[in-house]
Amino acid sequence: MYHLSLQGSVSLSDIYIGGGIFSTTAKHVAEKFHPTRIHVVTDSNVEPLYLRALCAQFPLTVTYTVIPAGEEHKNLATVASIYEDLCEAGLTRSDLLIALGGGVVGDITGFAAATYLRGIHICQIPTTLLSQVDSSVGGKCGVDLPQGKNLVGSFYQPELVMIDTDILSTLPERIFCDGMAEVIKYGCIANRDILELISAPDFKSNLEQIVYECVRIKRDVVQQDEHDNGLRMTLNFGHTIGHAAEKLGNYVDLSHGQAVAIGMCAAAKLNILLGGNDLTQIIADACTMHQLPTSLPYDNEAIYNSLLSDKKRMSDTLNFILVNQLGRADIRKFPLDQLHELVAQL
Ligand code: GLY
Repeated sequence: MYHLSLQGSVSLSDIYIGGGIFSTTAKHVAEKFHPTRIHVVTDSNVEPLYLRALCAQFPLTVTYTVIPAGEEHKNLATVASIYEDLCEAGLTRSDLLIALGGGVVGDITGFAAATYLRGIHICQIPTTLLSQVDSSVGGKCGVDLPQGKNLVGSFYQPELVMIDTDILSTLPERIFCDGMAEVIKYGCIANRDILELISAPDFKSNLEQIVYECVRIKRDVVQQDEHDNGLRMTLNFGHTIGHAAEKLGNYVDLSHGQAVAIGMCAAAKLNILLGGNDLTQIIADACTMHQLPTSLPYDNEAIYNSLLSDKKRMSDTLNFILVNQLGRADIRKFPLDQLHELVAQL
């Protein structure tokens, strides 16, 4: 088992990573919190697999909300339904909310925790690879609006994150591969050894170490730039064009991981256009090996127009993350007209 601490501006997160640690959740909760009530939020996919086993660990009554699975439910109406259940269960600021699920559950529950009573304790138990290596750590939480993804949110650190890599064995392969895009991202931006580790045919036997290496990078980045003003933007490698493609497919045609894989391959090509090193084959091979797509499925002009609505756009410039040497990311600010010309050549 691995243990990492993340010192946020308001609280300290304890992050535990290991096969089988789900069954020790109550022990770690008792070490850190003194709740008289616990409320779990999960979704309709995860409920039949893990909810009962989680509730049974605690010596007190645990209430819960089961939300429908799917990104289309990551909205304010779902948050309102959680607030209702929290009021009904009588949760106070000394009590604990637990998010049990993938990225959608984690983001919504984190936002409910950040805002209910102006903030109550939250523990994240991520159940997908994507949420284990990325969204459960670092405190970004929020919901979508009809106008776009993650347009309402907050930075609110979970004080406990329980990452059980054995849980990944129950994931459908497609969902597992989705998370591999974020793993490849960490290899590209911070530690090329991760790319070595995941290229082994039996890499799943090293999953605990692979997840740990990714989370360690995320911890280090977030600790230096919790509120996403600089270094944290490097975690967005592949996400600028990825988000643009995801949006063009109405968040249905491409999963997040597929879109990020396409975005990383496009960013590698863009790096060559700028006279940089050619890393396209290495990145594309890593994606292909994990059943992720590598080429843009939409017209370049449509991609450019879609990325104009990127949250990170600042008036007439956009920050774009480039990797010129594996294991190191650079933040480059592009005037929109230059980016337009570059995207047209991808
Ligand atoms: N998922 C990117 C971040 O947490 O900043």
